[in-house]
Amino acid sequence: MGTYFNQKDLQTLRELRATLLGMERRPEGEAAKRYWASSRTLELYDRVFAARIGWKWEAVLDEVEQRGGLPAPKTVLDWGTGTGAAARTVLRRLGPKGRPERVVLFDRDEAAREFAARSLRAEFPALTVETTAELPGGPFDLMLASHVLDELSDDEVKPLVGAAAAADHVLWVEPGSMVTSRRLGEQRAALLGSHDVIAPCAHRARCGLMSEGRERDWCHLFARPPAEVHTTGEWSEIRRELRIDLRSLPYSFLALRRAPVQHPAVARLLGRPRFQKGRVLLDLCDAEGVEARPMLKRSDKALFKALKDAAGEVVLMERDGDRLTRRP
Ligand SMILES: C[S@@+](CC[C@H](N)C(=O)[O-])C[C@H]1O[C@@H](n2cnc3c(N)ncnc32)[C@H](O)[C@@H]1O
Repeated sequence: MGTYFNQKDLQTLRELRATLLGMERRPEGEAAKRYWASSRTLELYDRVFAARIGWKWEAVLDEVEQRGGLPAPKTVLDWGTGTGAAARTVLRRLGPKGRPERVVLFDRDEAAREFAARSLRAEFPALTVETTAELPGGPFDLMLASHVLDELSDDEVKPLVGAAAAADHVLWVEPGSMVTSRRLGEQRAALLGSHDVIAPCAHRARCGLMSEGRERDWCHLFARPPAEVHTTGEWSEIRRELRIDLRSLPYSFLALRRAPVQHPAVARLLGRPRFQKGRVLLDLCDAEGVEARPMLKRSDKALFKALKDAAGEVVLMERDGDRLTRRP
């Protein structure tokens, strides 16, 4: 018996986690399992897994803000809304002045749609919240998608990409695993016909990690969990009982917009810096591709030290020949 969760809840969480993690490895042609077994399953997901997803969204929204932000959307679609965590996190960030008039929550599961709608109405009473099980007509000013790609066959991804292609702005966040991130990379390539890239790439060229010979590489980043993860009993119980490394929050994402983006002449640091004796290897991405670039400790001791704790930070580097400097 845990202090914060009883044994039944913990078992539900363990099984749900195993189901969700297993999605990307299910055999081709096998339909994604339906797992919203009860309202308690939705509550538990929202309290634990959706909270972690929310931290990834915070990191994505930080980066989007750093790259100029989004105009206030009037209409928002959350594709595969689940408990509505992505929509809630984005709306919180937009603040009262930037909030949309209408949010449409699309999910194939009725209990999930209702949970998501209730949670949004409770937090944002002035908002018009609609739910739908049918592919929503659009276009929308902003489309959100979060942790849904693993559940979709290639045919089922098409309507999602279609909705994204019709939206002015797209924020799409997925786990940072190799399979899922590479699949997201394929959707990026498809959407380059209609959209430019705000982030994570500082360019709209082909993804360097999707090129021949890079099949074992993938674009992923790490978000920083909030301090409460290390200080509260509830998260300590979750870490212990579910065996989750709460310090590590790998994710992949796309922030796209229809209008062209002015790309700065910088390279985005991907993954984690790899420290070696007296130097660090940085996976830097720019329009030329992704390259592991060495930086010597003695060339910039302050930057070398800062990179030790760079997870969760957007690090943009400028290259001047062999010299690397951090963009302020
Ligand atoms: C892992 S949950 C993620 C929920 C939420 N977006 C989040 O980030 O917490 C995936 C959601 O996608 C929904 N889903 C899966 N396949 C779908 C489809 N073909 N059409 C609509 N919703 C789908 C599931 O019912 C589930 O609620």
